[in-house]
Formats: sequence, structure tokens, C-alpha cells
Amino acid sequence: MKFEYYGHACFMIDTGKEKLLFDPFIQHNPLANVISTEDIDPDYIFISHAHDDHIADIEFFTKKSSTQVICNFEIMNWLQKKGLNNFQPLNIGGKRNFSFGTVRMTQAIHSSSFSDGSYGGTAAGFVLEINDKVIFYTGDTALYSDLKLIADFHPIDWVLLPIGGVFTMDASDACKAAQLLKCNQVIGLHFDTFEAIKIDKIKAIQLFKTQQLNLHIPTIKQTIIL
Ligand code: NI
Ligand code: MN
Repeated sequence: MKFEYYGHACFMIDTGKEKLLFDPFIQHNPLANVISTEDIDPDYIFISHAHDDHIADIEFFTKKSSTQVICNFEIMNWLQKKGLNNFQPLNIGGKRNFSFGTVRMTQAIHSSSFSDGSYGGTAAGFVLEINDKVIFYTGDTALYSDLKLIADFHPIDWVLLPIGGVFTMDASDACKAAQLLKCNQVIGLHFDTFEAIKIDKIKAIQLFKTQQLNLHIPTIKQTIIL
């Protein structure tokens, strides 16, 4: 399986058969303008919550009629009004089977409203069980102790955590999150895009090392084999 980073909290997981795109924010992210979006052709799109930095490019990537959107009920309703119609809705705690494996939607301690102010439901994360691997994208969230419970149900191989702070957990809280999850392979997201979330990457990686954890801080277009 392959992870490819598109900047901010946007990435692709290529299972070998299907392409899963998360939180599309590329054309609206000036830091990601090296990416040619025409070449990105997802089979599924996951939306963690309604904030613009996670959903701004959704319409561009749903041009192909077979692309399925995995999100909560409120986001589905809002996008249906924009003419999108291929949804696989879930809500917090729910699990669902797909062609690539199973997905559980988890809570995220964060807010969720659309750019027009309308309600986006509860912010979420996703636990993915694909090809005998468990990958957990927490979404934008604060640190919370139930991460421990999630890891009891799903032994996590890779976790994707926000590390930028201010709007989400920072690298130090993310280090604690990885410990609660008993997961030593961490990919950091949601950093550097805005002035307020610029981070010291070397310091963050060193902090994880003191706990025998590997923090990967990807550069745009970088791939990581999961
Ligand atoms: Ni957010
Ligand atoms: Mn965000």
C-alpha cells in the first residue's frame, strides 16, 4: 500500500486496487501548486469534517461519476444540494464494509461547520482495515484518552495525526496520542500551511525519538510505503 502526500491534511492511499483520497484541499492550497490535480483520480473520497481546508476541492475530484464519497450525514446533505450524488454515509462509531476493506468512523474533538456557516455534523476520523493493515487517520482533533479504546479494538499499524497545534493537537500531544495508540509509525499532517501552524520539524521528530516512535513529516508529493 502506498501513501502520497498532497499537503495540509490531504493525502492518497493507493491500495493497489483502489485509490482513496482524504480531505481534498489542493487547488485551494498555494503550497500544493506543484501537484497536477488532473492526474488524481480517486475511487473514494473521505471527508473528516466540513471546514474548508478539508473539503474545498471536493467538486473537482467528484467529476468521475463512479467516485464514492465517505462522510457523515450532514456533509452528505450539504453536498447533495451542490449536485453530488454518490455517497456512503457513516456516523461516529459506525463501521461499514467497502470493496477495499472496512472503515470505522471515530470521534474527533474539533468543530465542524461549512464556509457558509451551516452545520457540518460532528468532526470525525477513520480507522481503515485494508489488506491486513490498520491505518488510522484521526482527522483534526485534540488529544483524547479514548484513543486507547480504539487501539484495543483495532491494533494500529500506522496513524496519521495532526501536529501543527493551535487548531488541533501539536507534536507533543501527538506523541502522547501515538503512545495511547501503541503505534510507533506516525505520519504528521496539518502543519505549516498557515502562519499559526508553522512548526519546528526537527524538534518534533526528536521528541518522538525519545519515546522510540517514528514521526514521518512528509513533503508534498512524498510517498511512503505502508
Ligand atoms: Ni478543521
Ligand atoms: Mn483543518
